[in-house]
Amino acid sequence: MKFPIKLNYKYVPNFLRKIIPNHFSPIYLFSGQELSTANYHKAISCFKFGKTYKTTESGRHKLTNDLLLSRISKDEIILDVGASTGVTSYELIKALNFTFSKYFITDLNLKLFYNKLGNKYFFFNESNQCILIADEYFIVYYNELSWCKFLFRDTVSYQSKKEMNHFNLVCKDVDDLIRNDSRVVLYQYDVFKQWDHINPTIIKVANLFNLVYFSEIEVIKAFGNLFSVLKELGIIAVIDNRDIEKSSIFIKEGNGVVLLESINGGSEVQSIIMQHFK
Ligand SMILES: C[S@@+](CC[C@H](N)C(=O)[O-])C[C@H]1O[C@@H](n2cnc3c(N)ncnc32)[C@H](O)[C@@H]1O
Repeated sequence: MKFPIKLNYKYVPNFLRKIIPNHFSPIYLFSGQELSTANYHKAISCFKFGKTYKTTESGRHKLTNDLLLSRISKDEIILDVGASTGVTSYELIKALNFTFSKYFITDLNLKLFYNKLGNKYFFFNESNQCILIADEYFIVYYNELSWCKFLFRDTVSYQSKKEMNHFNLVCKDVDDLIRNDSRVVLYQYDVFKQWDHINPTIIKVANLFNLVYFSEIEVIKAFGNLFSVLKELGIIAVIDNRDIEKSSIFIKEGNGVVLLESINGGSEVQSIIMQHFK
């Protein structure tokens, strides 16, 4: 488990950043200055919904994208699951030179609510639960610390009843794209539910199917949902970026999948998938 309290990285000397838990603070989203793309993604990556973080950054799917490019035809219907800010979806779209039939950028958590009280920001999910408190110095995962819940219970309860500001968690490039290209659609989608739009020919799931976030049974259930809507001979890529990029690229053939390629040893759940979807 990652540490439930982190320091604003600014107050941790460089040589201690690997030892003391620290992060780029989400309060910089409201500094009034436009953040660089890298810093925007660092700020968003801090948020945690349930067991999953929004962690994302540019350039992390290069090897998988290269492989997909060599297999992809012009009119694919692409479903990107758990895309976070969509930066990696945008990169695949650019790599495809904008040639596809439809691109669904999806995530379960697309919106955050917040209030500022004094020097503290309180962040809430769509179910009105406080998930994080941040100020100039600290980033605290509120619901993971009982003393914090006790300490701030009245403030949080008061905040949760107030009208809140909200912001969307997709990056600017994706925001522009969905306004200007009707083939690109942003959807809230929970991988544990049935996908009920057009059946995709390519599915990409990056940094979601792993055994820290989900149990083996959950991975099988979620993968099964995607498998059931993927077109015959369609491709599903499962990617992990915990140290280096590792991925498993499968093709749907009949009632099972065939492993097309395994990059850097494959994703953590490769053998689970191969065992259950043979
Ligand atoms: C670690 S991020 C990965 C982001 C991006 N795919 C990447 O590789 O950079 C995991 C994302 O999955 C989303 N997520 C969590 N549970 C989900 C679910 N049940 N269905 C769909 N997305 C989910 C989270 O909101 C988060 O944005």
